[in-house]
Amino acid sequence: MSRIIIINGPNLNLLGVREKGIYGAERFEDYFERLKTQYNGVELSYFQSNHEGAIIDKIHEVGFSADGIVLNAGAFTHTSLAIADAIAAVTTPVVEVHISNVYAREPFRHHSYLAKNCKGVICGFGLEGYRLAVASLLRE
Ligand code: DQA
Repeated sequence: MSRIIIINGPNLNLLGVREKGIYGAERFEDYFERLKTQYNGVELSYFQSNHEGAIIDKIHEVGFSADGIVLNAGAFTHTSLAIADAIAAVTTPVVEVHISNVYAREPFRHHSYLAKNCKGVICGFGLEGYRLAVASLLRE
């Protein structure tokens, strides 16, 4: 059975509460329950942290055994060389996801330190982006 983990970074624990006009009204936990029912032949797990080091530790922990990582590193996308290095260090493919279309937003969101070490990037499709990322990893 394929093992895929979704990792969400800072402030994404507030999905459904935070800036609903940008990120939508659904809590991630509710979306994740629906996603699991669509992929019941896949071992899907979920981890969220507001701490850069905890995200790096999780990438190291799963990054040599899981079949795929779906990563929305939130604002760390635009700042973190350390997460970029962690993605480069592991063997599991990583797909970068953003709920919003970061290219339609402030210029500081247009650059990702992570993208060049990822298999691909999905942004602007709301929570559906996580499903698209899982589907792309299952085609590996
Ligand atoms: C985000 C976009 C980031 O720029 C922002 O800091 C987030 C969420 C997104 O999913 O659209 O926290 O990654």
